[in-house]
Amino acid sequence: MTSQFIPVEPFDYVVFGGTGDLAERKLIPSLFRRFCDGQIPETSRIIGAARSNMETGEYRTFARKAIDEHAPSDDAGQIAAFMELLHYVAVDALSERGWEELKSLLGKEDKVRAFYLAVGPSIFGPIADRLDQHGMVRDRSRLVIEKPIGKDLKSARELNETIGRHFREDQIFRIDHYLGKETVQNLMALRFANTLYQPVWNASFIDHVQITVAESIGVEGRGSYYDKAGAIRDMMQNHLLQLLCLVAMEPPASIDADAVRDEKLKVLRSLKAIDAGNAAQQTVRGQYKAGASGGEAVPGYLDEVENDLSETESFVALKAEIETWRWAGVPFYLRTGKRLPARVSEIVIEFKPVPHNAFGDAGTDMKANRLILRLQPDEGVSQSIMIKDPGPGGLRLRQVTLDMSFAESFDAHAPDAYERLLLDVIRGNQTLFMRRDEVEAAWRWIDPIIEGWLAAGVKPAKYTAGSWGPTASIALIERDGRTWHEGET
Ligand code: BG6
Repeated sequence: MTSQFIPVEPFDYVVFGGTGDLAERKLIPSLFRRFCDGQIPETSRIIGAARSNMETGEYRTFARKAIDEHAPSDDAGQIAAFMELLHYVAVDALSERGWEELKSLLGKEDKVRAFYLAVGPSIFGPIADRLDQHGMVRDRSRLVIEKPIGKDLKSARELNETIGRHFREDQIFRIDHYLGKETVQNLMALRFANTLYQPVWNASFIDHVQITVAESIGVEGRGSYYDKAGAIRDMMQNHLLQLLCLVAMEPPASIDADAVRDEKLKVLRSLKAIDAGNAAQQTVRGQYKAGASGGEAVPGYLDEVENDLSETESFVALKAEIETWRWAGVPFYLRTGKRLPARVSEIVIEFKPVPHNAFGDAGTDMKANRLILRLQPDEGVSQSIMIKDPGPGGLRLRQVTLDMSFAESFDAHAPDAYERLLLDVIRGNQTLFMRRDEVEAAWRWIDPIIEGWLAAGVKPAKYTAGSWGPTASIALIERDGRTWHEGET
């Protein structure tokens, strides 16, 4: 791989929730990997901040375990050097405890300072307030937050306003980790660094688009959060809509943050409304019941969230339409769910069939071209085309796939989405982060769907864990004479 590891400038990363699950699984391992590749200068610091009383030494032990588990390395020297970057301060978001210690640790040096809030959204506001009160928000300070950014438009606005009182919009980095995935960035490269696709990227040549984000896991101990959110808030409002925007947006003038985000925003604003009038036709909700995953019996959703009465969906599929010249009449079928048969995320662009069959009987099996962007597992891009079946015996047509797998084509591990995003924060590059108006526009489209479900009594249909969701999801696309893509080509 021809990666270039250009070091970022020295920084201080303060991770609130520094002893939590995200810090352990993603943040510390990702920073360690970037450190190993020489991108993080040794004068940088990573400061864990959390309520527990802990010494820096104990925090380093915690970080060491996180690395052993999630980014194992045999290079003891590098691990030891990375440990020197780590510090810990016990801080309470809701009291005065720890804030002056944090301030004095940060000191007066004018380094880039990033405050990563790996905590529940209810304390985003209190943390931003205290950082400001204690004079820690400076010109080169940045705030990083993750979803859930609200549970509807109103709460998202309130949250954005609260943090906006202390940080300027260009200092706020709203993470959607799907935007850091390699294939997602490749979608931009494919569309805007090749002449091939741009002329056919419209309703004249594209029949429809499918976006699937399937997970085989269940709610995994996050039941109390998930049961209030459901698949539409947890995945559709953010990850799937962001993918849809990248497929559908107009070519931006540059890949600068605002140029890209302006175009994505236009897509969100052009989505045709789904509400009580059409929610039952255009959407499907599902909830898994006991079944099997990876050959093992698994419990149903109600048992996992310990709420027998829950009417939260663990699966959602919908048909979105974009009311623009480019996309009029091209359905975007989106689906996501837990406890599906496999962990597969992909974007399928299905082109229209050729307008005329010049091959007579030999052309009856002609299939429309299909471009598939695989986000996971095995990231890659494939394009199906029709060719002549090789060999004698007359001209017969056959579909083949031009397939590019990143793992096979490039001899390097695809970086975790967080590796890129964490350093983009330091670089001050917001292209792969959501702007306030984007998040709010996404809620503006999602809210009427949720309200429509309530008003029209659309309840989740049961599906067996390990299946592709309720049969209504199959019907949603088959009614239009199309089928979900589930396979190689
Ligand atoms: C998170 C959701 O944003 O994305 C989880 O909250 C989901 O419910 C996860 O499991 C999926 O991310 P990935 O990168 O594993 O596809």
